[in-house]
Amino acid sequence: MTRAIAALYRAFYDGVLSRIPEPAAIALGQSLLRALPLDRLGVFRLEDPRLATTLGGVRLPNPVVLAAQYYDPRILRRAMGLGFGAVTAKSITVNPRPGHPVPNLVRTRSAAGPGLVNCNGFANPGLAAFRESLAGLVHRVPLIVSVAGESVADYVTLVEALGPLGDLVEVNISSPNTRLVYAWSERPQELRAVLERLARTSPRPLIVKLSPDFAEVNERDIIPAALEAGVRVVNYGNTRRIEEPRLSQRAGGLSGPDIFPATLDNVRRTRKRFGDALEIVATGGVDAPDKAAALLREGARAVGYFTGFVTRGPMLARAILERLLQGP
Ligand SMILES: Cc1cc2nc3c(=O)[nH]c(=O)nc-3n(C[C@H](O)[C@H](O)[C@H](O)COP(=O)(O)O)c2cc1C
Repeated sequence: MTRAIAALYRAFYDGVLSRIPEPAAIALGQSLLRALPLDRLGVFRLEDPRLATTLGGVRLPNPVVLAAQYYDPRILRRAMGLGFGAVTAKSITVNPRPGHPVPNLVRTRSAAGPGLVNCNGFANPGLAAFRESLAGLVHRVPLIVSVAGESVADYVTLVEALGPLGDLVEVNISSPNTRLVYAWSERPQELRAVLERLARTSPRPLIVKLSPDFAEVNERDIIPAALEAGVRVVNYGNTRRIEEPRLSQRAGGLSGPDIFPATLDNVRRTRKRFGDALEIVATGGVDAPDKAAALLREGARAVGYFTGFVTRGPMLARAILERLLQGP
């Protein structure tokens, strides 16, 4: 059954979603996700106590996390019934942002499989409207709220206001499409002060989302600063910045299977260097059950994905969970 639905989705992706212009594909995919009550069907989930884990002390029914990209509460609600152990909302900024003009998302296809390059630029409704929209959302699984700021004050405002509506708070310092957010990795001393400040006041456990483009700084400065501040979860990580002339910004963040080898290396190295003090959510290129299993085997505590949700469909989480029950 799992395989049949996965094959059907693959035919839909290859035959329809990957052939129509990207904005139309996004609109169609998101409309279907809102309209179809897939979250009511048991087939997408696998509930088994052996899969449970914790992240920053918060219990997750399983270690598969939907990575940040959706902010519409109707989609977040559906996603919470599609087998994930936690769902991450899109990064929210203090003020609404229209994001970068189209083209802001293009598809890639390499020997490794289909991927995406985006320069979304944080299109989001802003703190006040997002907060209001989340009010009625039942947390069927933990909700990770994500925040993106350009100053210390931005992060403090966002974490204090949004934190209570989530179960964990992800601090995004790594999206490559907004210069001031991406630049945090170039200012590790200032970032240390931000993390210390947030760790003191956050109402929920924090996750720091790292960029795969700054491995040396992450491991020399940012992770030690996080641990010293009392933040013990990192998400490693975000998209990789590349030049992409088809995009309005001529550059964007690469996601999907091309970045998987780097994700695996980053987890392996980081686990070796920081041991059990650090909890790692491994994100980047997971689009198959064996890739998720490999990251967990190398020491990740959870695995996240977004592009695999688009290219492989809503059955992937359950396929991963079935694989995990077979053991490492
Ligand atoms: C269109 C798009 C929008 C994204 N928006 C966000 C965001 O708002 N915040 C964030 O931390 N990551 C964002 N990401 C990054 C994903 O959460 C994820 O870290 C990245 O795509 C790598 O994982 P993947 O290869 O499984 O997609 C976005 C990715 C895409 C493709």
